Amino acid sequence: MEQSRIAHSIGIALDRFIKNNQEQFQYASGELSQLLRDIALASKVVNREVNKAGLIDIMGAMGSQNSGGDSQQKLDVLANIRFTRALSKGGEVCALISEETESYVDLNNDGKYVIAIDPLDGSSNIDVNVSIGTIFSIYRRKSPEGTPIQQQDILQKGTEQVAAGYILYGSSTMLVYTTGHGVNGFTYEPSLGEYFLSHPDLKMPDDGKIFSVNEGQALSFAPSVTSYLTYCKQNGYTARYIGSLVADFHRNMLKGGIYIYPATAKDKNGKLRLMYECNALAFIAEQAGGLATDGKNRIMDIVPTTLHQRVPFYVGSKKMVEKAGSS
Ligand code: AHG
Ligand code: MN
Ligand code: MN
Repeated sequence: MEQSRIAHSIGIALDRFIKNNQEQFQYASGELSQLLRDIALASKVVNREVNKAGLIDIMGAMGSQNSGGDSQQKLDVLANIRFTRALSKGGEVCALISEETESYVDLNNDGKYVIAIDPLDGSSNIDVNVSIGTIFSIYRRKSPEGTPIQQQDILQKGTEQVAAGYILYGSSTMLVYTTGHGVNGFTYEPSLGEYFLSHPDLKMPDDGKIFSVNEGQALSFAPSVTSYLTYCKQNGYTARYIGSLVADFHRNMLKGGIYIYPATAKDKNGKLRLMYECNALAFIAEQAGGLATDGKNRIMDIVPTTLHQRVPFYVGSKKMVEKAGSS
């Protein structure tokens, strides 16, 4: 985006921004724009619930488990319902993949798009008032519209994403997304109920000094991870780990840094999910000049074999991710 256009567009409302940039989409029929608006609307509802979580009975565990065997929190389930509802109404989506459901959800067979979503990321931080998020990836279906969904529509690799984004419910609420033409960040103005462009054409610093990893697991890290972390410590780097992927990623986007969730003794393939956590953030990182790998290979080139597949995740400033991968 050229400088004058950036300056001119700061403060523009999300709806108008989406409309103004619709011609950038490969298939500019308006459906993808509508989808992004649906996601934004659902995020406002979730944001409202997140903000008053302490006042109404939506904190704590559900007493159930999700697809990955994690204990489901009430807000995980609620956010999943909100996003599923918003995405099923418009008819643009044929299938929804969610962390909270074992199999994908069949929506409208005439829909052109497949969505993968982590409705509420950072579940362990809900009850303690720490930032949490939502992550989404949007794919175009491969099989013809009007026919039943097939495996090829569902298990697409990250390079096939047509859009991806996250919402951060933090000290302010932000929606950050890409359609493959750079990354733009919008801040929510609660009194107006609208997102406004606050971070146009976001670029991730090429290098940084922040490393973000759960060192509680350090005894089972591979030697390459241990030696990279030693390098960080010997060179005056600083540690920051929120435990909400979206929040850790967003900080590194703005300040420069690396986030690593490597293979551990507990999670042999790492903990994070390729389809609704890693791919979206990998797309955004690359669009912002950063990098995302599994330690060796580019995340977006991995062909998924199952919906809830886990993968080691290294994401952030390009030079840091390269250095960690060669340690
Ligand atoms: P989710 O709440 O969607 O299950 O995701 C939790 C993820 C991610 O947000 C975070 O970075 C990571 O789990 C934290 O895991 P550890 O507690 O093992 O560090
Ligand atoms: Mn998550
Ligand atoms: Mn989640």
